[in-house]
Amino acid sequence: MINKAIILAGGMGTRMSPLTKAVNKQLLPIYDKPLIFYPLSILMLAKIKDILIIVNKGQLSQYKKILPDGKRLGINIIYKEQNYPKGLPDAFLLGEKFIDNKNVALILGDNFFYGQDLSSKLIKSTKLKNGAKVILHKVIKPELYGVAKTSKSGKIISIKEKPKKYISDLAVTGLYFFDKKVVEYTKKLKPSSRNELEIADLLNVYLKKKKLTSDILGRGGAWLDTGSIEDFYKTSAFVSAIENRQGFKIACIEEIAFNNKWINKKEILDAIQFYGRCDYSNYLKKLIS
Ligand code: G1P
Repeated sequence: MINKAIILAGGMGTRMSPLTKAVNKQLLPIYDKPLIFYPLSILMLAKIKDILIIVNKGQLSQYKKILPDGKRLGINIIYKEQNYPKGLPDAFLLGEKFIDNKNVALILGDNFFYGQDLSSKLIKSTKLKNGAKVILHKVIKPELYGVAKTSKSGKIISIKEKPKKYISDLAVTGLYFFDKKVVEYTKKLKPSSRNELEIADLLNVYLKKKKLTSDILGRGGAWLDTGSIEDFYKTSAFVSAIENRQGFKIACIEEIAFNNKWINKKEILDAIQFYGRCDYSNYLKKLIS
């Protein structure tokens, strides 16, 4: 069972400078809300309430302005600063105390997921007892991601980080589920040639032990990039198209908390006051009217 998760929101966002010179990338807008709301909403849809957000050193105060401690969402959010990015598995070393020898999920702060059956898939994944689980999604440019080669029956045969030669078009998305061994295995990893701990190496430890499973986010679901400025605009356009067509907001964290019965009308009213007069508050008002 997984009740804890880490959002890795560190990194310098160099590719998006000058936008990221003063503001953390995950606080920049994807259409009508900060990027961080999207991965946070995914964890909340998975019914995970205990969350550690890892942020860049010096940027903690920015986060505390928008997500003080999670109380108004009925969840627990704590923060940890990272001096400089040392690869994704470093999240488990920084989060060792938070993980407290329990199973844990990891989501990258810049990953965007959307889809009809997503919530049930997420909840299913949190039932993990032993091993690790990844979510795969077909992409046109697999060479930009971690890639999984699978057998006909869907078993993972190999995982490679950004393979130059084609092995498969199934990208390993930035949402991972691990058992409590993850800290121990991470401690044994050696830095790669770019001097970082690699998530692919960690997944390969599980694969070797035959303990790596996967689920596929199919064509009815979307996994979008927010790596470059161009991606930011494309993902924003996607959110805008859906929201303005249906009238539902994607990643409205208060709505998810309310639907999960973690908060009630009072907290929604507090949130409306917190955000002030804006379209987001108007949406919250409709929820409770
Ligand atoms: C990282 C991982 C990669 C994964 C991707 C998902 O890549 O190393 O395996 O597919 O996140 O977003 P990065 O975005 O750090 O290049």
